[in-house]
Amino acid sequence: MSDHLTQLRLKRQQAVQGGGPARVEAQHQRGQLTARERLAILLDEGSFQELGALARHQNTDFGMADRRFLGDGVVTGFGKINGRRVAVYAQDFTVLGGSFSQVQSQKICRLQDRAVEAGIPLIGLNDSGGARVQEGIQSLAAYGEIFYRNVTASGVVPQISLIMGPCAGGAVYSPALTDFVIMVTGTSHMFLTGPEIIQTVTGEAVTAEDLGGAWVHNSRSGVAHFAVESDQEAIVLTKRLLAYLPQNNSQDPTPLTPYDDADRLEEALNTIVPSDENLPYDMRQVLSLVFDLDSVLEVSSDFAPNALTGLARLDGHAVGLVANQPAHLSGVLDIDSSDKIARFVRLCDSFNIPLVTFVDCPGYLPGVDQEYHGVIRHGAKIIYAYSQATVPKLAVIVRKAIGGSYVALSSKQMGNDIAFAWPTAQIAVMGAEGAFRLLGRKAAQASPDPAEAERQFLDDYREKFFNPYHAADLGQIDEVIEPRETRLRLIRALEVVRTKVQTGLPKKHGLFPV
Ligand code: HXC
Repeated sequence: MSDHLTQLRLKRQQAVQGGGPARVEAQHQRGQLTARERLAILLDEGSFQELGALARHQNTDFGMADRRFLGDGVVTGFGKINGRRVAVYAQDFTVLGGSFSQVQSQKICRLQDRAVEAGIPLIGLNDSGGARVQEGIQSLAAYGEIFYRNVTASGVVPQISLIMGPCAGGAVYSPALTDFVIMVTGTSHMFLTGPEIIQTVTGEAVTAEDLGGAWVHNSRSGVAHFAVESDQEAIVLTKRLLAYLPQNNSQDPTPLTPYDDADRLEEALNTIVPSDENLPYDMRQVLSLVFDLDSVLEVSSDFAPNALTGLARLDGHAVGLVANQPAHLSGVLDIDSSDKIARFVRLCDSFNIPLVTFVDCPGYLPGVDQEYHGVIRHGAKIIYAYSQATVPKLAVIVRKAIGGSYVALSSKQMGNDIAFAWPTAQIAVMGAEGAFRLLGRKAAQASPDPAEAERQFLDDYREKFFNPYHAADLGQIDEVIEPRETRLRLIRALEVVRTKVQTGLPKKHGLFPV
């Protein structure tokens, strides 16, 4: 064999060794896989084309002259997932803690550029101690290059971030600019400033897990959309998620061959809403009976659980679902659920995923805290997102559609295409008791029998508004349907509106109420 080939093979061998056996062993001891092991599970066998495997940093300060690893702590390239082309990068914690360098940035930026040009999804496996301290401004600027490209790619190709180790400082902003963030419980952490700095600056004592673990970001901050138990699970989830998404914004998601009966009637739906309007029920049961068998993939399931968002299928076609969850805070809209719904609606609209909204909501949450923290501003996001979305939009009013929730959650005025209502629908400006306090109390108090007058008022109010027929009379509801027919009615409606074309006025961009 020629010397040239021997030299190349040697270099390739060195590149795949990362930071060496001891570091790899330490990674395994923590229950984590290495960058290359992760990619081997993520990508179809033999599909990975690595690029930049031999790149090294050029720094000599701080003892770095002797620590020049091939690849410089990130593995980048293109591959396939179930036959679909993807661009991937995986940071290698075994090399200098996966710290982010100029070379890492150059490698990832090239990948981002090619992915956007070719219209293929970008998947980042993050496991890094953040900006490489030895590089100073170089590594800070290097982050800027990545963020800029994340934004350029946003809404053009799907971007999925897996957090599989530390993700500290500015490193958090690349995932935060992508469409989905998946965190591994126990081994991944995201925070701007770590526990030690927080202790110094504010005196607060907190562990890394309590500050930025998977639970925190899935249930409290809303930064992450999924929490999983292991690296392997994160990768399986990524593949599942990708199946609902198109390659880019000029394509529709690829449908699956239908595998569930499109005409299925679900008798259980006819009795799922309790006769007492104040009793809760689990909207998840409704969703699992309506959509294709086992197709619901909830997104942000632990954040603002009074709203449900997720991807699902109807007759094999990907759809996005938004629903109120009466089993939690009566399904009320508040600041967090507004953010959750609005973000999800925009995601679906970006990638041509039709929206199906299930409404059972008593309205926006009253309260001083909500008002002070901007429920007006946050609530406006839902209205903005639905109004702006040009994908097909279907709605089912299941029970309450009171006040702002009727208008905001995919009403005809927000560009909804087809609105169904169950016979249990209640469409009114406010609840009966509120209306009595506003309109009926004075008259009742002046009447000979105030209790009877109140009962009469409430009965009249409920009779007029607590059914879908007044709204159907006015054309605000397209059809009142038996709950058991919901699946087949949605499938048929989607068949019609799937090819909807809608264009807006030319503008640079609107001012989304952030
Ligand atoms: C250079 C780093 C590094 C970094 C880790 N290493 N982070 N080298 N720059 N940012 C190196 C360590 O020196 C060590 O090398 C090896 O990686 C493994 O790190 P350990 O600390 O031994 O591992 P562990 O105990 O598991 O702790 C991991 C960690 C910790 C929690 C990530 O390393 C850490 O706190 N790192 C710094 C995190 C941070 O503050 N990053 C900068 C954020 S500021 P040796 O050879 O000694 O074993 C930022 C600004 C960007 O990112 C702003 C952009 C807008």
